[in-house]
Amino acid sequence: MKLKIAIQKSGRLYDDSLKMLRDCGIELTNGVNKLRTDACNFPLEILFLRDDDIPQYVADRVADIGIVGENVLLEKQASVQLVQRLGFARCRLSIAVLRGEEYNSIACLRGKKIATSYPGLLQQFLDTENVQAEIHEISGSVEIAPGIGLADAICDLVSSGSTLFLNGLREVETVLKSEAVLISNEDIGAQKQEILDRLLFRINAVKKAKR
Ligand code: PRP
Ligand code: ZN
Ligand code: MG
Repeated sequence: MKLKIAIQKSGRLYDDSLKMLRDCGIELTNGVNKLRTDACNFPLEILFLRDDDIPQYVADRVADIGIVGENVLLEKQASVQLVQRLGFARCRLSIAVLRGEEYNSIACLRGKKIATSYPGLLQQFLDTENVQAEIHEISGSVEIAPGIGLADAICDLVSSGSTLFLNGLREVETVLKSEAVLISNEDIGAQKQEILDRLLFRINAVKKAKR
């Protein structure tokens, strides 16, 4: 019996997700098939997937558990459990406007067009703030939208801030703070739960050692 974990196949979470497994003493075999590999000293199979798809794959039992940004978990609303916050890949989902644009309060967003890959989280935020704006969903390269006249503002993840800087954008509102989280299918069964408990024990030991 093996526990199947889904991790991001490339991007911000990839390196630190693998590092966390390595810190837990889990060694991966260097399989030729890069979409899937086994741990050689722990009953774990690793699937490399697009992060946005991971909550649904975990809900559908393609994988038992997964590592995703909390932002993706909250946007996707799949039926999965948040098992553990992992403390890496910290970032925030923010609204940004062109640097030269006048902006003094959230009311400045009224009637504006905002490009984002997180329409659900953005809509919730705008509702809470009582602001009506037009949400334009795009799946990638959101940061170029204002510069090419596709939108007045964006709502996207900010980590170092260099993507915003390089695209002449200025952060004006924080929608959500996020970090990597471990998620699980709601019913993985006793045997897999036992493997997950062993993995969690190691994750917590590593976390404590780092403090
Ligand atoms: C986010 C965001 C920016 C970048 C910001 O993408 O969309 O492209 O990170 O980081 P910075 O502030 O350090 O420049 P992410 O890595 O989540 O990839 P994805 O959108 O392709 O999933
Ligand atoms: Zn993504
Ligand atoms: Mg991106």
